[in-house]
Amino acid sequence: MSELIGRELTLRVNGIDHPVEVAHGRNLLSVLRTEIGLTGTKEGCDDCECGACMVLLDGEPVNSCSYLAAQAVGREITTVEGVMRGDELHPLQRNLLDEGGVQCGFCTPGMIMSATALLARTPDPTDEDIRIGLSGNLCRCTGYARIVAAVRRTAQEHGVS
Ligand code: FES
Ligand code: FES
Repeated sequence: MSELIGRELTLRVNGIDHPVEVAHGRNLLSVLRTEIGLTGTKEGCDDCECGACMVLLDGEPVNSCSYLAAQAVGREITTVEGVMRGDELHPLQRNLLDEGGVQCGFCTPGMIMSATALLARTPDPTDEDIRIGLSGNLCRCTGYARIVAAVRRTAQEHGVS
């Protein structure tokens, strides 16, 4: 029964504090999507394999399906909704569209989070760096080349902060 009793937590997501009541053992992914209403982060395998649920914790990519919500207290959580620049797409989002790196789109939010972290630590990545940086993210549609091209183009145009 005790796991059904809610516990109040405050999660800081995309710069905003969200008080939430969550049952013991809830993962971060489900709290982001259900309690906070940020559905950009996707649930794929629910087993730390596909990267669809990737978010940033203090700038580091984490599979939110395999991370307890309670562990994220006191940390800065960034989801795909947080990379927009006002009403403007982030350059990485625009380049993914322009390069044809989005087909069904299910992997795209997780790819964006991994690529954002990659470009923050490696502003001028080689293609191998990009492939390694995205190795935790599976895409069933694109064959990856167009996604790599989008990340490369973003690095060449701007870098990512
Ligand atoms: S849903 Fe989290 S890694 Fe697949
Ligand atoms: S675009 Fe469909 S899974 Fe990547």
